[in-house]
Amino acid sequence: MRIIKIFDTTLRDGEQCPGATMNVEEKLKIARQLARLNVDIIEAGFPITSQGDFEAVKRIADEVKGITVCGLARAVDKDIDRVAEAVKGAESGRIHIVIATSDIHLKHKLNMDREAVLAMSVRAVKHARQYTDDIEFSAEDATRSDWDYLCRVTEDVVKAGATTVNIPDTVGYTLPHEYGELIEYLMNKVPNIDKAVISIHCHNDLGHAVANSLSAVLKGAGQVECTINGIGERAGNAALEEVVMTLKTRSKYFDAGTRINTREIYKTSKMVSRITGITVQPNKAIIGDNAFAHESGIHQDGILKERSTYEILNPEDIGISKSKLILGKHSGRHAFKDRLSTLGFQSLTEEEVNKAFERFKTLSDQKKHIFDEDIEALITNEITKENNTYSLSSLHVITGTEQKPLAKIKLSVKGREKEKEGTGDGPVDAVYNAIRELTGTQSELKKYEIKSITGGTDALGEVVVMLEENDRVVRGTASDPDIIVASAKAYINALNKLDGIQRPEFKELKQGV
Ligand code: KIV
Ligand code: ZN
Repeated sequence: MRIIKIFDTTLRDGEQCPGATMNVEEKLKIARQLARLNVDIIEAGFPITSQGDFEAVKRIADEVKGITVCGLARAVDKDIDRVAEAVKGAESGRIHIVIATSDIHLKHKLNMDREAVLAMSVRAVKHARQYTDDIEFSAEDATRSDWDYLCRVTEDVVKAGATTVNIPDTVGYTLPHEYGELIEYLMNKVPNIDKAVISIHCHNDLGHAVANSLSAVLKGAGQVECTINGIGERAGNAALEEVVMTLKTRSKYFDAGTRINTREIYKTSKMVSRITGITVQPNKAIIGDNAFAHESGIHQDGILKERSTYEILNPEDIGISKSKLILGKHSGRHAFKDRLSTLGFQSLTEEEVNKAFERFKTLSDQKKHIFDEDIEALITNEITKENNTYSLSSLHVITGTEQKPLAKIKLSVKGREKEKEGTGDGPVDAVYNAIRELTGTQSELKKYEIKSITGGTDALGEVVVMLEENDRVVRGTASDPDIIVASAKAYINALNKLDGIQRPEFKELKQGV
């Protein structure tokens, strides 16, 4: 059976999804989880675009072991040098070079002819080879490129030292059979194709990203580029969980599999959704809330008689545990730590465990039963708030049928306490008005969503907000048994993200490729 490499680009292409910006700590946390999921390669960022992106790639390369860490570069020396610097501490580092090969891009974006792009590609690969022999070359907009030209580019970059050649469907234009034919064409026509792995990278504009990826696997592609929950530029990328579970469920058909530890899928999906604030649709394949929910009587009856009547996947295979009830008020630190480890949080420092345990104790006073989802939310809340400009010190709200809601809020702003009162149409409005006054933010609240993490009136409320300022969109998330506190924290989380991305060096971000 062939082993297909899984190249996860949640932290690079996934982050290009509007509002999905992550800070270094958040990226590191996801990277650690991706390592537990056992992906082969993590594309950790695009180092030339900002100091933050550079630092994220570097820290992941330095600290996350057992996987290949990759950074993206345009086909120019300064980008390549920056990636090389960022990944040099990795156990295994990869430089990923991209340049467009379609005539549309050559004419309107690059203003270059085919020969010039070919020469630049070869030059870039040779330049990168001085740093590592793990070089990936991407022919951007490959599916709208001339097939024979693509063959020439592939042959020449492989000759120059590229070990992986990626054939992206950058605009999500291709169809499954057509994409399969393109991969087959390359496999047959490029004389040195056996010296490199063919990779695929599909966007979901027409909803075919996963089908296209699988069609390419059937024709010989050896690496699939994908993201958790399918997040990414515009309509997103191929969803890792769908590609992986299809290969697992239909491994005989594909005669292929992956190294993914599928039991980590659910947890990884939840983590990415919480950190980015991008919620998963309930009917999403594999990890949506309804993926294993059987509503109709006939189906329920069938499932009770024999699971395989209506279920082709075992929820436990993706890490959804059968017994959900876990800890409570009387659980000790040992049981808590043990549960953290079962949930995959083995790499927390003692200080982080202590902080989380304190929070757990407070939560168990407010909430009778603590579920796995509560613990995951609590860890996400506690561990990802380093280096923040704003944090909530205290909040007091008075509201009711007879009076205008009033909020009194105290924030720590770069370590200094500041206090403000605000009124509004409702308690959340009052809190947000007070925060706006206190921080002076010019951002516009584009979206506010609230849902409960588990059942019951004492459930944690999870709030997601979306803010926009100067064409920047960020999402903020937080959870708390008190939905007003969760609302305040989510807003503050989004403001911290806006603050992070407005540092001058970030202005350059995502231009150019
Ligand atoms: O979609 C695309 O073409 C990309 C490349 C950088 C691989 O994301
Ligand atoms: Zn892409």
